[in-house]
Amino acid sequence: MKMQHPIGVFDSGLGGLTVLKEIHALMPEYDYLYLGDNARAPYGTRDFDTVYQFTLQAVKWLFAQGCPLVILACNTASAKALRTIQQRDLPSLAPDKRVLGVIRPTTEVIGDYTDSQHIGVLATKGTVDSLSYVIEINKFFPDVQVHQQACPTWVPLVEEGEHNSPKADAEIKACLEKLAAQSPLIDTILLACTHYPLLYPKIRAALPSHIEVVSQGEIVAASLKEYLQRHLPMASSISGSGTLKFCTTGDPLQFGHAASVFWGSEVVSERVEL
Ligand code: DGL
Repeated sequence: MKMQHPIGVFDSGLGGLTVLKEIHALMPEYDYLYLGDNARAPYGTRDFDTVYQFTLQAVKWLFAQGCPLVILACNTASAKALRTIQQRDLPSLAPDKRVLGVIRPTTEVIGDYTDSQHIGVLATKGTVDSLSYVIEINKFFPDVQVHQQACPTWVPLVEEGEHNSPKADAEIKACLEKLAAQSPLIDTILLACTHYPLLYPKIRAALPSHIEVVSQGEIVAASLKEYLQRHLPMASSISGSGTLKFCTTGDPLQFGHAASVFWGSEVVSERVEL
Protein backbone atom coordinates (compact mmCIF):
# COMPACT_ATOMS: atom_id res chain seq x y z
CA MET A 1 0.00 0.00 0.00
CA LYS A 2 1.18 3.50 -0.74
CA MET A 3 2.45 5.72 2.05
CA GLN A 4 0.72 9.00 1.36
CA HIS A 5 0.56 11.02 4.55
CA PRO A 6 2.94 9.51 7.08
CA ILE A 7 4.00 10.97 10.40
CA GLY A 8 7.49 12.37 9.81
CA VAL A 9 10.08 11.63 12.49
CA PHE A 10 13.33 13.56 12.32
CA ASP A 11 16.68 13.39 14.09
CA SER A 12 20.24 14.43 13.34
CA GLY A 13 21.03 10.73 12.96
CA LEU A 14 20.17 7.42 14.59
CA GLY A 15 18.87 8.74 17.91
CA GLY A 16 15.32 9.45 16.79
CA LEU A 17 14.87 5.72 16.21
CA THR A 18 14.62 5.34 19.99
CA VAL A 19 11.55 7.59 19.85
CA LEU A 20 10.08 6.15 16.65
CA LYS A 21 10.34 2.63 18.08
CA GLU A 22 8.09 3.55 21.02
CA ILE A 23 5.66 5.59 18.90
CA HIS A 24 5.36 2.74 16.43
CA ALA A 25 4.85 0.19 19.22
CA LEU A 26 2.01 2.29 20.65
CA MET A 27 0.38 3.26 17.34
CA PRO A 28 1.36 0.70 14.70
CA GLU A 29 -1.65 1.58 12.56
CA TYR A 30 -0.12 4.79 11.18
CA ASP A 31 2.45 5.25 8.41
CA TYR A 32 5.86 6.63 9.44
CA LEU A 33 8.69 8.25 7.52
CA TYR A 34 11.99 8.52 9.40
CA LEU A 35 14.67 10.98 8.35
CA GLY A 36 18.16 10.95 9.85
CA ASP A 37 20.55 13.72 8.84
CA ASN A 38 23.49 11.41 9.50
CA ALA A 39 25.69 13.20 6.98
CA ARG A 40 25.65 16.29 9.18
CA ALA A 41 25.42 14.73 12.68
CA PRO A 42 26.18 15.65 15.38
CA TYR A 43 24.06 18.76 15.78
CA GLY A 44 24.83 19.14 19.47
CA THR A 45 28.04 21.09 18.98
CA ARG A 46 26.69 23.35 16.19
CA ASP A 47 25.56 26.94 16.66
CA PHE A 48 21.95 27.98 17.01
CA ASP A 49 21.45 29.23 13.46
CA THR A 50 23.00 26.15 11.84
CA VAL A 51 20.76 23.78 13.82
CA TYR A 52 17.75 25.93 12.90
CA GLN A 53 18.65 25.96 9.17
CA PHE A 54 19.32 22.19 9.04
CA THR A 55 16.11 21.41 10.95
CA LEU A 56 14.03 23.69 8.73
CA GLN A 57 15.43 21.93 5.64
CA ALA A 58 14.46 18.57 7.11
CA VAL A 59 10.96 19.74 8.01
CA LYS A 60 10.42 21.15 4.50
CA TRP A 61 11.61 17.88 3.01
CA LEU A 62 9.23 15.83 5.18
CA PHE A 63 6.35 18.16 4.32
CA ALA A 64 7.18 17.71 0.62
CA GLN A 65 6.89 13.93 1.10
CA GLY A 66 3.30 14.45 2.31
CA CYS A 67 3.76 14.41 6.11
CA PRO A 68 1.00 16.42 7.83
CA LEU A 69 2.81 16.13 11.17
CA VAL A 70 6.55 16.11 11.94
CA ILE A 71 8.07 15.06 15.26
CA LEU A 72 11.50 16.51 15.98
CA ALA A 73 12.82 13.41 17.75
CA CYS A 74 15.93 15.37 18.62
CA ASN A 75 16.36 17.46 21.75
CA THR A 76 18.95 19.74 20.18
CA ALA A 77 16.63 20.60 17.28
CA SER A 78 13.69 20.90 19.70
CA ALA A 79 15.70 23.30 21.88
CA LYS A 80 17.14 25.41 19.10
CA ALA A 81 14.73 25.34 16.18
CA LEU A 82 11.24 24.24 17.19
CA ARG A 83 9.85 27.51 18.48
CA THR A 84 11.07 29.54 15.49
CA ILE A 85 9.69 26.98 13.05
CA GLN A 86 6.32 26.84 14.84
CA GLN A 87 5.94 30.59 15.24
CA ARG A 88 7.76 32.10 12.26
CA ASP A 89 7.88 29.54 9.47
CA LEU A 90 4.81 27.36 9.78
CA PRO A 91 2.13 30.04 9.28
CA SER A 92 3.44 30.87 5.79
CA LEU A 93 4.99 27.50 4.93
CA ALA A 94 2.16 25.09 5.79
CA PRO A 95 -0.49 26.48 8.14
CA ASP A 96 -2.37 23.18 8.33
CA LYS A 97 0.70 21.10 9.21
CA ARG A 98 2.28 20.72 12.64
CA VAL A 99 5.77 20.26 14.06
CA LEU A 100 6.14 18.93 17.61
CA GLY A 101 9.24 18.39 19.75
CA VAL A 102 10.35 16.13 22.57
CA ILE A 103 11.20 18.58 25.36
CA ARG A 104 7.72 19.74 26.35
CA PRO A 105 6.19 16.25 26.77
CA THR A 106 9.22 15.15 28.80
CA THR A 107 9.31 18.15 31.12
CA GLU A 108 5.57 17.85 31.80
CA VAL A 109 6.07 14.49 33.56
CA ILE A 110 9.71 14.13 34.62
CA GLY A 111 9.12 15.67 38.06
CA ASP A 112 6.85 12.73 38.92
CA TYR A 113 9.84 10.37 38.82
CA THR A 114 11.89 11.95 41.62
CA ASP A 115 11.50 11.60 45.40
CA SER A 116 14.53 13.70 46.28
CA GLN A 117 13.51 16.55 43.93
CA HIS A 118 16.95 16.41 42.31
CA ILE A 119 17.06 15.42 38.66
CA GLY A 120 20.16 14.95 36.53
CA VAL A 121 19.80 15.84 32.86
CA LEU A 122 22.31 14.37 30.42
CA ALA A 123 22.23 16.05 27.01
CA THR A 124 24.25 17.55 24.20
CA LYS A 125 26.15 20.79 24.74
CA GLY A 126 23.57 22.59 22.60
CA THR A 127 20.64 21.40 24.71
CA VAL A 128 22.47 22.11 27.98
CA ASP A 129 23.48 25.64 26.90
CA SER A 130 19.91 26.42 25.78
CA LEU A 131 18.76 25.87 29.41
CA SER A 132 15.49 24.53 27.93
CA TYR A 133 15.25 21.70 30.46
CA VAL A 134 16.01 23.90 33.46
CA ILE A 135 13.41 26.48 32.40
CA GLU A 136 10.70 24.02 31.35
CA ILE A 137 11.05 21.63 34.31
CA ASN A 138 10.87 24.56 36.70
CA LYS A 139 7.62 25.71 35.07
CA PHE A 140 5.93 22.38 35.79
CA PHE A 141 7.84 21.38 38.95
CA PRO A 142 9.10 24.51 40.73
CA ASP A 143 10.55 22.50 43.65
CA VAL A 144 12.77 20.32 41.47
CA GLN A 145 16.46 21.12 41.15
CA VAL A 146 17.91 20.33 37.75
CA HIS A 147 21.59 19.37 37.41
CA GLN A 148 22.75 19.35 33.80
CA GLN A 149 25.73 17.59 32.29
CA ALA A 150 26.77 17.80 28.64
CA CYS A 151 28.17 14.58 27.16
CA PRO A 152 29.69 15.75 23.87
CA THR A 153 31.40 12.45 23.03
CA TRP A 154 28.30 10.25 23.35
CA VAL A 155 26.53 11.06 20.06
CA PRO A 156 29.71 10.43 18.01
CA LEU A 157 30.10 7.06 19.82
CA VAL A 158 26.62 6.03 18.66
CA GLU A 159 26.95 7.43 15.14
CA GLU A 160 30.29 5.66 14.69
CA GLY A 161 28.88 2.34 15.93
CA GLU A 162 31.13 2.33 19.00
CA HIS A 163 28.42 2.27 21.62
CA ASN A 164 29.38 -1.22 22.78
CA SER A 165 33.12 -0.56 22.88
CA PRO A 166 35.43 -0.19 25.93
CA LYS A 167 35.92 3.43 24.80
CA ALA A 168 32.20 3.93 25.47
CA ASP A 169 32.63 2.64 29.05
CA ALA A 170 35.31 5.23 29.75
CA GLU A 171 33.35 8.13 28.19
CA ILE A 172 30.17 7.17 30.06
CA LYS A 173 31.98 6.85 33.38
CA ALA A 174 33.62 10.28 32.93
CA CYS A 175 30.30 12.07 32.31
CA LEU A 176 28.40 10.26 35.05
CA GLU A 177 31.14 11.17 37.55
CA LYS A 178 30.84 14.85 36.60
CA LEU A 179 27.06 14.69 37.08
CA ALA A 180 27.35 12.87 40.41
CA ALA A 181 29.80 15.54 41.62
CA GLN A 182 27.07 18.17 41.18
CA SER A 183 24.82 16.63 43.84
CA PRO A 184 24.67 13.40 45.89
CA LEU A 185 20.87 13.81 46.00
CA ILE A 186 20.14 13.01 42.36
CA ASP A 187 17.77 10.03 42.24
CA THR A 188 16.56 10.39 38.63
CA ILE A 189 18.64 10.79 35.50
CA LEU A 190 16.93 11.86 32.30
CA LEU A 191 18.54 10.86 29.02
CA ALA A 192 17.70 14.14 27.28
CA CYS A 193 19.30 13.22 23.99
CA THR A 194 17.54 10.65 21.86
CA HIS A 195 20.85 8.97 21.00
CA TYR A 196 21.58 8.11 24.64
CA PRO A 197 19.10 5.23 25.07
CA LEU A 198 21.38 3.31 22.69
CA LEU A 199 23.95 3.52 25.51
CA TYR A 200 21.37 2.58 28.17
CA PRO A 201 22.83 -0.80 29.25
CA LYS A 202 26.21 0.78 29.94
CA ILE A 203 24.72 3.83 31.65
CA ARG A 204 22.50 1.63 33.83
CA ALA A 205 25.40 -0.63 34.77
CA ALA A 206 27.57 2.33 35.76
CA LEU A 207 25.02 3.79 38.21
CA PRO A 208 23.86 2.74 41.69
CA SER A 209 20.53 0.90 41.61
CA HIS A 210 18.59 3.58 43.53
CA ILE A 211 19.02 6.03 40.63
CA GLU A 212 16.30 5.74 38.02
CA VAL A 213 17.35 6.24 34.40
CA VAL A 214 14.59 7.66 32.22
CA SER A 215 14.49 7.53 28.42
CA GLN A 216 12.11 9.77 26.52
CA GLY A 217 10.69 7.37 23.93
CA GLU A 218 7.71 6.07 25.90
CA ILE A 219 6.92 9.51 27.31
CA VAL A 220 6.89 11.10 23.85
CA ALA A 221 4.82 8.26 22.40
CA ALA A 222 2.15 8.55 25.12
CA SER A 223 2.03 12.30 24.67
CA LEU A 224 1.65 11.99 20.89
CA LYS A 225 -1.20 9.51 21.29
CA GLU A 226 -2.98 11.95 23.57
CA TYR A 227 -2.31 14.81 21.12
CA LEU A 228 -3.90 12.85 18.29
CA GLN A 229 -6.91 12.02 20.44
CA ARG A 230 -7.36 15.75 21.07
CA HIS A 231 -6.75 16.74 17.41
CA LEU A 232 -9.00 14.46 15.42
CA PRO A 233 -8.73 16.30 12.05
CA MET A 234 -4.93 15.87 12.29
CA ALA A 235 -5.28 12.22 13.28
CA SER A 236 -7.56 11.50 10.34
CA SER A 237 -5.23 13.28 7.91
CA ILE A 238 -2.44 10.74 8.66
CA SER A 239 -2.48 7.69 6.41
CA GLY A 240 -2.90 4.39 8.15
CA SER A 241 -1.52 1.42 6.26
CA GLY A 242 1.01 0.62 8.98
CA THR A 243 4.14 1.19 6.90
CA LEU A 244 7.60 2.34 7.96
CA LYS A 245 10.14 4.00 5.69
CA PHE A 246 13.67 5.06 6.62
CA CYS A 247 15.70 7.75 4.89
CA THR A 248 19.16 9.12 5.62
CA THR A 249 21.36 11.86 4.23
CA GLY A 250 24.31 9.60 5.01
CA ASP A 251 25.39 6.15 3.87
CA PRO A 252 22.25 3.97 3.64
CA LEU A 253 24.18 0.75 4.22
CA GLN A 254 25.78 2.07 7.39
CA PHE A 255 22.44 3.45 8.55
CA GLY A 256 20.64 0.20 7.76
CA HIS A 257 23.23 -1.86 9.60
CA ALA A 258 23.15 0.27 12.76
CA ALA A 259 19.37 0.68 12.66
CA SER A 260 18.74 -3.06 12.15
CA VAL A 261 20.69 -3.96 15.29
CA PHE A 262 18.63 -1.52 17.31
CA TRP A 263 15.30 -2.25 15.61
CA GLY A 264 15.65 -5.99 15.94
CA SER A 265 14.73 -6.66 12.31
CA GLU A 266 16.20 -5.64 8.99
CA VAL A 267 16.03 -1.92 8.25
CA VAL A 268 16.50 -0.86 4.65
CA SER A 269 17.09 2.82 4.13
CA GLU A 270 17.23 5.18 1.19
CA ARG A 271 19.72 8.00 0.73
CA VAL A 272 18.16 11.42 0.22
CA GLU A 273 19.40 15.00 -0.31
CA LEU A 274 17.85 17.83 1.66
N1 DGL B 1 19.54 12.96 19.11
C1 DGL B 1 19.95 14.33 19.24
C2 DGL B 1 19.36 14.92 20.52
O1 DGL B 1 18.37 14.39 21.03
C3 DGL B 1 21.45 14.38 19.12
C4 DGL B 1 21.93 15.68 18.69
C5 DGL B 1 23.26 15.64 17.99
O2 DGL B 1 23.29 15.31 16.79
O3 DGL B 1 24.25 16.00 18.63
O4 DGL B 1 19.80 15.92 21.02
